[in-house]
Amino acid sequence: MSPFKEKVRVVSGIQPTGELHIGNYFGAIRNWLALQDEYECFFFIADYHAITEEWDPEQLRRNTQNLVLDLLACGIDPERSVLFVQSHVPEHTELCWVFNALAGYGDLQRMTQFKEKREHVERTQEFVSVGLFDYPVLQAADILIYHGAKVPVGEDQLQHLELTRRIARRFNARFGAYFPEPEPLLSEAPRIMSPAAPEKKMSKSLGPKHYLALFEPEESFWEKIKTAVTDTGPQGETMSPGVANLFLLLKLSAAPEVYEGFRAEYAQGTIRYAKLKEAVFEHLMEVLRPLRERRAKLTEADARAAMERGAAKAQKVAQETLHEVRRRIGVGPVPPDDVGTS
Ligand code: TRP
Repeated sequence: MSPFKEKVRVVSGIQPTGELHIGNYFGAIRNWLALQDEYECFFFIADYHAITEEWDPEQLRRNTQNLVLDLLACGIDPERSVLFVQSHVPEHTELCWVFNALAGYGDLQRMTQFKEKREHVERTQEFVSVGLFDYPVLQAADILIYHGAKVPVGEDQLQHLELTRRIARRFNARFGAYFPEPEPLLSEAPRIMSPAAPEKKMSKSLGPKHYLALFEPEESFWEKIKTAVTDTGPQGETMSPGVANLFLLLKLSAAPEVYEGFRAEYAQGTIRYAKLKEAVFEHLMEVLRPLRERRAKLTEADARAAMERGAAKAQKVAQETLHEVRRRIGVGPVPPDDVGTS
């Protein structure tokens, strides 16, 4: 019997938008790692979600493959978790089409993320795609196709999860109880800010100066910390955002005594920011070193092997769900065991 059977199932996805940074690591990914012990985890790379805005095919493929390796290097364990690429399990998109018939147009119109993205896309691209509008329905399919009970996501995804529950309820009401109503697994994600503009959240879209990539060369990693914005003038009562950000990074990476030591110096007004920055760099590197060493050894062949293995495991479950969904809603070829029973 599978050792999985008693475990609650977790499903989560991440878009292949380019290199991972320490905000992604200390936010989402570290949570994923912790969940692997307690839950049966399905983690995937949402490449079909990435085509809801303009994309470059070659870059998408490269980003997807690299993200597989990045996640393996971070410690996603393919022995315990199912790690795969969304498009390699095409059942997701078929279930999405079924769910399109159960999702309210008005509900989708109310999605905050769509409204925000739409505004951005309207300014920067030729048109706003129907895919961008339908994004949350594909997300519902991603989760329910595995009967996911818990979904680790950030606050910004709660509305999408609410829609997922609504779709599940609607399906169950019309076609008999089948899907669970998945719940979010919210964990605190530290708000890591850009070193160059510490009033803004660390993000790739701001440009390379604004994020510390997990796997970038040590030299540029250090350069960004070294030149990080600190105080611009005499300090008032509250710590400046740049200094607060350095302290946050230290707290995440160093022993409590180290952190407390610098806090005391700050309180006494004897702190030297150059020393604080060196400490931040050294401790972050210490945390990241094992990941970086693992990443350096991984090859394209490893990515291919992992993707194949993950897709096979995921697809087995996905096909069962689709089979049952088709049967219940009255589409697809009549399965042999149903012939003559109605
Ligand atoms: N929309 C999610 C995000 O941007 C990514 C995602 C796609 C996802 N499908 C999912 C997350 C299913 C959880 C479950 O973060």
